[in-house]
This record gives sequence, structure tokens and C-alpha cells, in this order.
Amino acid sequence: MNEMKDEQVIKDDDEISQLMNKLKKFQAILEESDFFKETKEIIRNEKFTYIRCLALGSPSSMKTPLFQLAYVIIILNELEIEFKNLSFYDPVFTSVDEDLLVTQLGATIDKEIPTHFEANSTLYFLPHAPIELMNTLLDSIRPHYLLCNDVVSHTDGYTKLKLFEKYPKVSALLNVTNQDQKVKPDEEPFVVPKSRNKKKKGQFIEPVIDYTTVDVYFKSCRIIRLNHANKDQNWGTAFSDLSYHIITDKESPIDT
Ligand SMILES: C[S@@+](CC[C@H](N)C(=O)[O-])C[C@H]1O[C@@H](n2cnc3c(N)ncnc32)[C@H](O)[C@@H]1O
Repeated sequence: MNEMKDEQVIKDDDEISQLMNKLKKFQAILEESDFFKETKEIIRNEKFTYIRCLALGSPSSMKTPLFQLAYVIIILNELEIEFKNLSFYDPVFTSVDEDLLVTQLGATIDKEIPTHFEANSTLYFLPHAPIELMNTLLDSIRPHYLLCNDVVSHTDGYTKLKLFEKYPKVSALLNVTNQDQKVKPDEEPFVVPKSRNKKKKGQFIEPVIDYTTVDVYFKSCRIIRLNHANKDQNWGTAFSDLSYHIITDKESPIDT
């Protein structure tokens, strides 16, 4: 019995040290990349003290989450944030993931966000997170800074109405993002001439959606795309569509 237990411990230790080696290798690859140079440019002037990572998947089981973990670690190092201020949650974490994240790295796993993580100083990293999770986050946690899949392309499988009915907070965010991008302060909105605006027979008319019925904390969202996050021979599609979202509070005097 004892022999079996010892064998298991050796196997686990082996697994963890192999994982740590792989993780370091992935960190080194990313550190050399234009993608990370671009990331540094974006976060350079931000004052983050905490990082909250959701929807990572299992880094001990798959390459994509391990690459995403490597990325969040080099961001953490760049911002000189301590590992104890890096918090994860994903229901799929295994005991090996827990060992890797908590025992080896010194980060934490928290189902709920630690209460001292303030929105203004927390960077959220949500690689390929479900839209439902994004909706819950916008509803309850009210984040300001998100590194996640571009909310515009992430939701393009939905009609405006379907998105509004299913994920109202995400839909409202998309609405203020769109307005932001289409109408810049020094530009006049484009008005379709009346003669070209006539409904043709059988033509689909987009229903009018009243976004004021959705209670949200934000007034605008600026998206900065990471152009070098594309598919790569090393990390595959781990960072596809990754973009930095700056969400501005309704109360904020600043306009993005
Ligand atoms: C599409 S997978 C992405 C996994 C990995 N990041 C990737 O890019 O392959 C979505 C992940 O979200 C996780 N997830 C679902 N609900 C969640 C929640 N409430 N909080 C944190 N993670 C959640 C799932 O367990 C799953 O691992």
C-alpha cells in the first residue's frame, strides 16, 4: 500500500516538474514575440495591482491553457505584480492544476473574486470565455479592464435581437462599443439618404432595440486589438481575437 503511494507521489512530482519546464519554455517563446511587445505597449501606462483570470481551462491537460498561463505570468512579471495577487477560477481545474497554480506558482484559486480586488486596479484575462460568463461578469463584478476575445467578433454569430434577449449586458456593451467606433467626437454620423432607405419587398429590417432598459454601469467601451495575437506555429489559436477592452464607468468624467 505504502509502496503504491510513494510511486504515485514520484509520478506526480515528475509531472509537475515537466509542466514547469514546459511553462518556462512557453514563457520564453512569448517573451520574444511581437505579440508580447504589442501587449507591453498597451499595458505600459496602466497601474494594475491584481490580475483575475477566468476560463483558462486545464493547463496541465492542454497546450492552449498552458500557453495562456505563460502569457499571464509574463504580464504579471512585467507589471511587477506578486503571484499572490493573481487569482484564477475555472470549474475544470484538476488537482494537478491546483498544485501547479497554487503550490508551485503561489497564485490563488477563488470561486468568487477576492474582495480586495478593486475594479480600477484589476486586469481581467478571459481567454475564450463563454459569452454567458462575460454577461455575468458585467452584471455583478463590473470590470473596467479586460483582455478577452474582441466582444464584436465574439458575438457576431448572434443577431442584435437574439444577443439582447440572451445576454443583455453584453449586448449593451456592444452597443456602446459600436457607437464609440462609428461616431468619433469630431465626425458627423453618416445618414443614409431617404431614397436609398426604402424597404424592399422581403427585406429584413433590424428591430429597434431599447438599450436604456438594460441597467448598466458603463457608458463606453474602447477596444484595442492585438494584431500579433493571430494564429502562430507555436501557440496555435490560443490568443485568437484577443483584444484589450477599456470600459468607462457612467460616473467617470473621462470619455474614451
Ligand atoms: C472555450 S473554453 C476556453 C478554455 C481555454 N482558455 C482555451 O482557450 O482553450 C471555456 C472555459 O470556460 C470555463 N468556464 C465556464 N464557466 C466558467 C465560470 N463561471 N468561471 C470560470 N470559468 C468558467 C470552462 O470550464 C472552460 O474551461
